[in-house]
Amino acid sequence: MPQTSAMTRSRPSRHGCSWRERRATRQPTPWRWRPRSPQVPPVRIVLLRTADREGLVFHTHRLSRKAVEMEAHPEVALLLHWNRPIHRQVGVEGRAERLEDELSDAYFFERPAGGRPSAWASPQSQVVSGRDELERRWQEARCRFPDDGAIPRPAEWGGYRVVPECFEFWQGREDRLYDRIRFRRAATPG
Ligand SMILES: Cc1cc2nc3c(=O)[nH]c(=O)nc-3n(C[C@H](O)[C@H](O)[C@H](O)COP(=O)(O)O)c2cc1C
Repeated sequence: MPQTSAMTRSRPSRHGCSWRERRATRQPTPWRWRPRSPQVPPVRIVLLRTADREGLVFHTHRLSRKAVEMEAHPEVALLLHWNRPIHRQVGVEGRAERLEDELSDAYFFERPAGGRPSAWASPQSQVVSGRDELERRWQEARCRFPDDGAIPRPAEWGGYRVVPECFEFWQGREDRLYDRIRFRRAATPG
């Protein structure tokens, strides 16, 4: 469409304006105006715990902002990066699902002892009055569960598995002639 080439030559914000003007003047237009989503997708660094045939697993608090938003919109994108000399990145797009409780338990018990009361003490994604409150809550959690080995996993803390739909492997090479290879899951024959 000629409009597409015009689009690539000017700034997106200008286009927003011109689209809005067209709409206001009720001129016929081949484009549909889509309002910009009020949600800005959040980006977070997480520890990739495992990656196998089933998917890629990380753990978090299920009341955290990221988890709440991910439960509402489970399509997610992950990016793994290795700086030089490895100079690689792997992008993964897929759907996040809750990890089975037994696997979340297993990981929780592998965490260092000091990290387990933190899962109880930290009101995830909530504002606290300061560091003192956080440390007080941590001490309270320690008193509540004096035996390190018996600190249970809070019900709202657990893992997510991202089941990949596509992978993109990127390899840094000489002279910026990079390799970029994309794999997409084949449709399951019906
Ligand atoms: C190296 C690194 C690893 C992290 N790993 C995790 C993780 O595995 N799980 C997690 O919930 N947050 C992890 N975080 C913290 C998150 O990036 C994020 O700041 C935090 O979870 C709060 O997110 P929220 O806005 O959803 O509350 C990590 C941060 C860094 C810098």
